Amino acid sequence: MSELPKPRQRLRRLRRTPALRSLVRETAWDVGQLIQPLFVREDPRTAATIPSMPGIRRLTVEETAAEAGELEELGVPAVLLFGLPSGKDAMARGAYADDGVVQEALRAVKEEAPDLIVMADVCLCEYTDHGHCGVVREGRIDNDASLELLARTAVSQARAGADVVAPSAMMDGQVGAIRTALDREGFEDTIIMAYAAKHASAFYGPFREAADSAPRFGDRKTYQKDPANLRESLREIALDLEEGADLVMIKPALAYLDMIRAARERFDAPLAAYAVSGEYSLIKAAAERGWIDERAIVEETLTAMRRAGADLLITYHAKEVARWKRGDPR
Ligand code: PBG
Repeated sequence: MSELPKPRQRLRRLRRTPALRSLVRETAWDVGQLIQPLFVREDPRTAATIPSMPGIRRLTVEETAAEAGELEELGVPAVLLFGLPSGKDAMARGAYADDGVVQEALRAVKEEAPDLIVMADVCLCEYTDHGHCGVVREGRIDNDASLELLARTAVSQARAGADVVAPSAMMDGQVGAIRTALDREGFEDTIIMAYAAKHASAFYGPFREAADSAPRFGDRKTYQKDPANLRESLREIALDLEEGADLVMIKPALAYLDMIRAARERFDAPLAAYAVSGEYSLIKAAAERGWIDERAIVEETLTAMRRAGADLLITYHAKEVARWKRGDPR
């Protein structure tokens, strides 16, 4: 035994105690970087519970305001609103109606929690009867006709008090169209968080159940990007920044950490990672079976997103994480 050479370097020395590990830790995250997505239902008869997303509920406008107040109190700085309108049509009128569900929720949240940052998703899929993110003409998604409606949606959200509008339809030119429309209407300070690299992903399944937004025909592959392409994500981000995006997002998160890393190295703009519905559901399902330690897994995934290079972290676990951090029993 004494014949064996002693290791020259002992990395375990710096792992010996919590204080040592804290001193050499390379990556940290904070509740102050989390964004909680919320689903708002216009029709109070719409079911609140979402079977594939335990712990997340479809909220009425009043409940959304109350939830925003709780989140603010817990130190979560921002919410991202998605709407479930009581009716849908071919032109997605509910998306840009001044009394639309998200617009009403924006006003209610601003009144309840004035310092909370309120973000609104800008897309048509929850509002169209066909479930696509843009206008359909002769069975195809019409890019430029969609731009007009997306710009109108963003302006009506800004008018209702949105601090941040987040275009997610993946139409070419959507960020530029929205920036122009916002500026024209006097909303120069409204921030744009672009879903820049949004992939045609099966991880959105539970969201589409929650928001009743699955496409009624075809799929989203002609506008959401191919998960196989990394360089194309960098082109999307570069274009959105040129068009005026303030924040850029990559989504989903865990299966795309290489893209977050590549984007971090290429661009200096703040970068958001969106841990989407399917990522949440996977963790919840395993946790419900007692197969994993939910808190440890969630914290590990947030660390991974930060280590890859994300600044802002969008997660359905935001409220729970804030509670864990505070040491609440739940
Ligand atoms: C709207 C939108 C979707 C998500 C965010 N914005 C659904 C989709 O593109 O089908 C997915 C979010 C999630 O899965 O948590 N277009």
